[in-house]
Amino acid sequence: MPKEKLFSWKKEYELGIKEIDAEHKNIIRIMNDLYFILEEKLDAKATEMVLKDLLQYSTYHFATEEKYFKKFHYADATKHIKHHHFFTKKIQQIYKKNQAGEKNVTFELIDFLEDWFLEHVILADKDYVECFNKHGLK
Ligand SMILES: [Fe+2]
Ligand SMILES: [Fe+2]
Repeated sequence: MPKEKLFSWKKEYELGIKEIDAEHKNIIRIMNDLYFILEEKLDAKATEMVLKDLLQYSTYHFATEEKYFKKFHYADATKHIKHHHFFTKKIQQIYKKNQAGEKNVTFELIDFLEDWFLEHVILADKDYVECFNKHGLK
């Protein structure tokens, strides 16, 4: 039987912007990798690898969004970028804790992602859709 997934892509997450939706789907995939690690009680090394993946990928994803903020002169860019920084900082903190040998960081991380992803993608990212669409990005 295939492994149960904690996070799955939902229609309501869709922004209708192809490039961004694809990246958000990848973030969900990484979140599920973390969930798998938690479930299988894998070691700190495995957690570190996925955390690295998450940090790298989210940095890449934020750069995509921020590139369009600049290009389209998105009015709420500063506020939104703060949101991105908050996320990156939090993941870096958890990464350090994991390296320092702290247990159960995966649990803390999944908790955070669950809150953050919903808050961020459903609420914050939806705010720029109108602006991006207006500039022809769909
Ligand atoms: Fe996003
Ligand atoms: Fe964003």
